[in-house]
Amino acid sequence: PAATTHTATQVIVVGSGIAGLTVALHAVQHGCAVTLVTKDVLEHANTRYAQGGIAGVMFADDKVEDHIHDTLVAGAGLSDEKAVRVLVEEGPARIRELVEVGVAFDRGADGTYVKGLEAAHSYPRILHSGGDATGTAIEKALVASLRASNVRVIEHAFLIDLVHDGGRVSGVELLIGDHAGTTPVAGRHETVTADAVVLATGGAGELYAYTTNPPVATGDGIAAAMRAGAHVQELEFFQFHPTIVGVGESFLVSEAVRGEGATLVDEHGRRFAFDAHPDGELAPRDVVARAIAHQMELQEGRPVFLDATHLRATVEERRSFLATRFPTIDAAVRERGLDWAETPIPVTPAAHYLMGGVTTDLFGRTSLPGLYAVGEVARTGVHGANRLASNSLLEGAVFGARAGDAIAADAASGAWPVVSAPHGAAPTEQTDAPGHAPKAPAFTREALQTLLWEDAGLVRDEDGLRHAASVIATWRARPRTVTAESEYEDENLLLVGETLVAAALARTESVGAHYRRDVLEHVGASVAPQQESGAA
Ligand code: SIN
Repeated sequence: PAATTHTATQVIVVGSGIAGLTVALHAVQHGCAVTLVTKDVLEHANTRYAQGGIAGVMFADDKVEDHIHDTLVAGAGLSDEKAVRVLVEEGPARIRELVEVGVAFDRGADGTYVKGLEAAHSYPRILHSGGDATGTAIEKALVASLRASNVRVIEHAFLIDLVHDGGRVSGVELLIGDHAGTTPVAGRHETVTADAVVLATGGAGELYAYTTNPPVATGDGIAAAMRAGAHVQELEFFQFHPTIVGVGESFLVSEAVRGEGATLVDEHGRRFAFDAHPDGELAPRDVVARAIAHQMELQEGRPVFLDATHLRATVEERRSFLATRFPTIDAAVRERGLDWAETPIPVTPAAHYLMGGVTTDLFGRTSLPGLYAVGEVARTGVHGANRLASNSLLEGAVFGARAGDAIAADAASGAWPVVSAPHGAAPTEQTDAPGHAPKAPAFTREALQTLLWEDAGLVRDEDGLRHAASVIATWRARPRTVTAESEYEDENLLLVGETLVAAALARTESVGAHYRRDVLEHVGASVAPQQESGAA
């Protein structure tokens, strides 16, 4: 590569979803010099795919305590209650801030916000925009604000690593792509030193063969934080969304569709979700996803169906309702030659959201001074073992703002408070020796994705996890050349995958999204009773 250039800024934010954009906008309002880098174009973050909406206590007859309770119950008892309280209490102010920057949440004929219901919410407190295009509306508005601000933006800038001295983080090393149209043609290295580095790099859906995430979700921030020695936590909690249209696809059909009354039926038309939980289709997401996987297993892998054919009285009314309330999904369903007003559509689960991540305090501070983490890359403690629907945009907005404000204060005081690492498994715990893999196939990203889907997916057990651990250890031990962006991504996925598997082995219980079929002593509230044939 060409020689590395060096630049400096006060605050560097890595990532351009709701969390990163919010940190940048808050920090710049406090007078900080902010640079925001993103590995694709600004708009290509997971945020823009969010359909259902953003949860918040925005109606007079809703209660903060109820939203807190719903979040804690979905989290299966493993959320940090203080963090949940911050999330819920500060949520409405952040939602109003989004309105101020131009997000038009949908309103009814009387001018009040339309209420959306999603699974495990005791009140229809989800605001949406454009029906089912909430993330796109938020991303657009925040990107426009960012472009109008003094924040310096570098697109196509891939985070290779954090610059640190073994303790304090003082910058980032970037691979900046030059593009001919949309095709990357070369890369140059740039080191940016900064007083504060904020990871807002999102999740790691690319770990799995089937995911709702866009290809940019390769765990880059978590991996870089781990290499620098930051504490990470609870990677075993990976949420699978129950309803992706078709088989092996990535297009999500929002839980809000079930919130409007759509049901899940097996291939004979029988509703099966009540077998798993008294709340049926609106049980916590982990329960519904496992119930679908279990039903698919009974059906020899064939998908179940989402049935919206009873919503509204006539097929014409239904067609018009579905097209108006869910325009994005409606278009995607039709593109696949399906008519969901007339016929139930096939759906399958896919990897969706990483609850664990880089451990932070209530202001995004990590265990390394100078390093902050916000959004999906962070483990703030709000989600516990299973995130409540539509709490993720909220988390990005609330903790993004808190981190942006804290960075300005920390910079002014020069104090850089440090988060003490909680007890728990060490982040890089090795669980098996490479030699244990009888035969590891050649490493490819697809091979890793299939391995994790099969051995560390919706339902796990010790044998599968040990197999995954040993194959990954073999892959990690093999020397590879790493120069291109996709090769760096592969290394990140391997490191995050290895840590996820180690954490899943270490947690010998079934709780929330982490379901061990070999250890069925459940704790928490959201573990579904599984039928004895077992392999749900
Ligand atoms: C959905 O619309 O079902 C996804 C919302 C979320 O992941 O919170």
